[in-house]
Amino acid sequence: MPVLLVTGSSGLIGSEVATYFHELGYVVHGVDSNQRAVFFGPAGDTRWNQQRLEATLPRFRHNELDVRDRAGILALVAEVKPDLVVHCAAQPSHDRAAAIPFDDFDTNAVGTLNLLQAVRVSCPETPFVHLSTNKVYGDRPNGIALRELETRWDYDDPAFADGIGESYPIDQSTHSLFGASKVAADVLVQEYGRYFGIPTCVLRGGCLTGPQHSGVELHGFLSYLVKCNIEGKQYRVFGYKGKQVRDNIHAHDVARFIQAFADAPRVAEVYNLGGGRDNSVSIIEGFERISQLSGRPMNWEYVEAPRIGDHMCYISDLSKMREHYPSWDITKSLDDIFEEIHASTLQRRA
Ligand SMILES: NC(=O)c1ccc[n+]([C@@H]2O[C@H](COP(=O)([O-])OP(=O)(O)OC[C@H]3O[C@@H](n4cnc5c(N)ncnc54)[C@H](O)[C@@H]3O)[C@@H](O)[C@H]2O)c1
Repeated sequence: MPVLLVTGSSGLIGSEVATYFHELGYVVHGVDSNQRAVFFGPAGDTRWNQQRLEATLPRFRHNELDVRDRAGILALVAEVKPDLVVHCAAQPSHDRAAAIPFDDFDTNAVGTLNLLQAVRVSCPETPFVHLSTNKVYGDRPNGIALRELETRWDYDDPAFADGIGESYPIDQSTHSLFGASKVAADVLVQEYGRYFGIPTCVLRGGCLTGPQHSGVELHGFLSYLVKCNIEGKQYRVFGYKGKQVRDNIHAHDVARFIQAFADAPRVAEVYNLGGGRDNSVSIIEGFERISQLSGRPMNWEYVEAPRIGDHMCYISDLSKMREHYPSWDITKSLDDIFEEIHASTLQRRA
């Protein structure tokens, strides 16, 4: 049976990937240290998701391991010799990184290096898929001409009608320390492809979402927004009139793309991975959608100052993904995403 090693397996993307590849017949080794609870407190705790995987997937093995543990990672990869590595473990919040710069860099950059080197030593033929982020572009997308619509910002430059592509510059802009540590990882993953020939893939995520997110204010946009609506908790909007736009992709469509890549791997590829224009939504549009679904008003306050480095409008251009892997496309619409998150949030509270 093929073997998958997935880090961050108790998180949103890691758990989806674990479940998806288990269904395809893989033995799945998950690596997670529940560090999300350390980063974000009890609301970020992912043990419930780990337990769910252990209870439902017979060929799932949880490894209580920190990606910063170099010897541990080298030993695990040498032992299981995976046929596919999907690296999802991370400190994922740009705001949080400023308070914990060493934890952030050690996890995001050094943890990725540990895993890459382990693959180079033990299984250099193995496809290595890395979850990067659109924050590698820093706040430079805010320099694209924008127009203000009633409920959202949009690009006012025909060159970006389909969104932002992979050739967009990544430097000379404000990234947050998180964006900087993810740039280091992103470039390392490309380098282990180009320099050593490992089939590596960098996925620069927009908003990755789905029902398994442990959303908190600092990370997990839609999951946290839905949770606030259902609990009647006040949601804070930081700047840009609440018209900032994110494109949302369901974790299932992320896993489907990873399968497409694993089936026909390439070397040192980079893709912008988001929901594209059809799955884009502004914060205030998101309020409207969830209120209609739940029948509850959104309780929110406005904070004038935007988050440092926050994008006013970010839409991923998906044409490279579609061109390289024509059998792949988005299958979960924004409606599907809202409905699933809404249903699962209610269920988790029951
Ligand atoms: N969710 C998004 O909107 C989004 C957007 C862009 C990029 N990404 C990237 O996708 C990846 C997955 O994101 P997610 O939303 O699933 O995050 P998540 O926080 O839900 O999951 C990450 C998991 O990694 C674990 N982890 C963190 N540090 C660890 C460490 N040092 N050792 C072992 N485990 C550790 C956490 O406990 C958590 O369970 C991350 O690299 C993130 O930067 C996510």
